[in-house]
Formats: sequence, structure tokens, C-alpha cells
Amino acid sequence: MKTAIVGGLVVAGLLLAGPVSASSELDKSSGCLKCHDVYKKKMGPAYIDVAMAYKGKAGAEATVVARIMDGKNHPPVKAPEADVKTIVKWILAM
Ligand code: HEC
Repeated sequence: MKTAIVGGLVVAGLLLAGPVSASSELDKSSGCLKCHDVYKKKMGPAYIDVAMAYKGKAGAEATVVARIMDGKNHPPVKAPEADVKTIVKWILAM
């Protein structure tokens, strides 16, 4: 686990500067990591793939937050929308 984290940080080091630890803690406490991983596809897509898919798209943050919150495109999440927004911002900045 530790190796994976260190390895991942080296790979994405440049991209992941900034308030990473606060957001990733939020991500963990919100239960997102049960189905997601930054680099690997689990039940849901890898965050890095989501970031790539939305790269340069206008309104990406609002689109993704809405998809997560609407309960149709995404399994229901318990996290408040404000937290999801923070996490999505972090994901899209990867
Ligand atoms: C029960 C499992 C589960 C949990 C918990 C979960 N997700 Fe997901 N997530 C998925 C699945 C499955 C998909 C793929 C859904 C699809 O787009 O078809 C997905 C898709 C996504 C996407 C891509 C959406 C898009 O527009 O392409 C993002 C971003 C995301 N999840 C973030 C989160 C965040 C943030 C949390 C925590 C608040 C979370 N997920 C919790 C299963 C989960």
C-alpha cells in the first residue's frame, strides 16, 4: 500500500501538487474509496481516467458533481454536495 502510494505520487507528482491530502482524506471519509482508486479501476472508474476524460471541457466540475449526486448515473453517496464538490475539484485537477 505504501509502495503504491509513493509510486503513484512519483508518476503524478507534477499534477498532484496542491491541497491533495485534505481532499484525499475527505474522499476516504466520504466512502468514495470503497469503489474508487486514483489510479486503478475498481467498481467505479479510476479518478485519473475521469480527469483525462473531462480535461479541457467547460463546466466539467458541475457536470460531474451533478452526475454523482443525482442517484441515477452513480450509486447513491452519503457525502454532502459541498464535500463532493471539493473532491471533484481535486479529481479534475489531476
Ligand atoms: C458503491 C460504489 C461507489 C461509491 C461509494 C462511489 N462511487 Fe463514484 N462511481 C461508481 C461507479 C460504478 C461509477 C461509474 C458510473 C457511470 O458513470 O456509469 C462511478 C463514477 C464516478 C465518477 C465519474 C463520473 C463521470 O461523470 O464520469 C466520479 C468522478 C465519481 N464516481 C466520484 C465519486 C465520489 C467523489 C464518491 C464519494 C462521494 C464516489 N464516487 C462514491 C461507484 C461508486
